[in-house]
Amino acid sequence: MPKVKFTKENQEVTVPEGTTIRKAAKMLNINTNQGVNGIGATLNKYVNCHGLGQCGTCRVYVTEGHIENTNSQTWSEKKCFNVPFPDPLPALAYLDNPEQTRLACQCKITGDITVETGPEVNLFGENFFS
Ligand code: FES
Repeated sequence: MPKVKFTKENQEVTVPEGTTIRKAAKMLNINTNQGVNGIGATLNKYVNCHGLGQCGTCRVYVTEGHIENTNSQTWSEKKCFNVPFPDPLPALAYLDNPEQTRLACQCKITGDITVETGPEVNLFGENFFS
């Protein structure tokens, strides 16, 4: 069974193949709906689409095992990361790190992976406002 390591929380869990990152995180009581740079994390923990792939608040980076140990991006993820309306923030975060950015509720685990929850949105990096 695949292992999922959450780097910020320094926790690890073994899950059945096909489990989403969101469900794996919930097993450890980790909140994947963290708002933008931590702002809104408490609110987003309760106010989100509950895994339907529509709100974009569960952005995570899969820092290891992204290509080989997860499903390919779903339609919901492609929409969320490429159409910056009504919420531009998931799309902005995607621009910063497209090869690792996933929605925790849409990303299914098929092998060992490492996950960073609540990755920072770099609003002043070279992709934004500069
Ligand atoms: S919980 Fe809304 S997109 Fe994942």
